[in-house]
Amino acid sequence: MKINFLNLKELNPLLLSDNGKKDILTEYLIARMFDIHMESSQTLWDRKMFDEELKREGSGFLICYSDFDAAEGSDNSLALKKITEKDIDPALKIDLKSFIAGFFIYYNVLDEMHILDVTVSKEIQSKGIGSLMLSTVIKKNSEAGIKHFFLEVRTSNIIAINLYKKFGFKIFMLRKNYYEDNGEDALCMVKES
Ligand SMILES: CC(C)(COP(=O)(O)OP(=O)(O)OC[C@H]1O[C@@H](n2cnc3c(N)ncnc32)[C@H](O)[C@@H]1OP(=O)(O)O)[C@@H](O)C(=O)NCCC(=O)NCCS
Repeated sequence: MKINFLNLKELNPLLLSDNGKKDILTEYLIARMFDIHMESSQTLWDRKMFDEELKREGSGFLICYSDFDAAEGSDNSLALKKITEKDIDPALKIDLKSFIAGFFIYYNVLDEMHILDVTVSKEIQSKGIGSLMLSTVIKKNSEAGIKHFFLEVRTSNIIAINLYKKFGFKIFMLRKNYYEDNGEDALCMVKES
């Protein structure tokens, strides 16, 4: 399996404008991201929030994809395999048959990045995709001048907390009763580049 990344707003910069035209591929990618979000995220957005975020100036939607077709289940080795940097294939071209492995939503203001959502498709979690997405985003944006990376995470989301700690994020504040659905507290974390 080869994996690659694309930033949706680089593929379709018109998403920035209110009447931006979306082609079939862009519509498919947004719909697929939203499916993964509904399947796997603990804090749910509605489609309107996704679309609003796409239009926000400074936002980024990184999509991680591969040539593996999940529907056909054509790559059984995936269940055992840990995905690493060497699996990245810069030549891969995305199309409607591509398998969307996960996505990463953020927005940048001045030298700050605010990470809004990091989600990996359920069937391939804990195989290194989240780490690859985070390292890709941090590297690219640090080079572009981002100095502070902020996020919030549920206190019970141990896997996500482990992921962020692995990349040097530190807890700087606890927001009490932050999540409306169950009143859970949020850990506010920051990484300085
Ligand atoms: C959180 C999430 C993005 C992590 O992505 P992932 O691809 O599953 O994570 P990785 O395989 O890259 O693992 C990263 C680190 O997380 C930790 N981790 C991964 N799986 C774990 C598990 N089952 N139990 C405990 N820690 C785990 C480890 O520290 C791991 O680093 P290591 O493999 O070097 O030890 C993914 O699990 C997910 O989509 N969860 C649902 C959505 C979500 O909660 N997003 C976060 C919102 S703040």
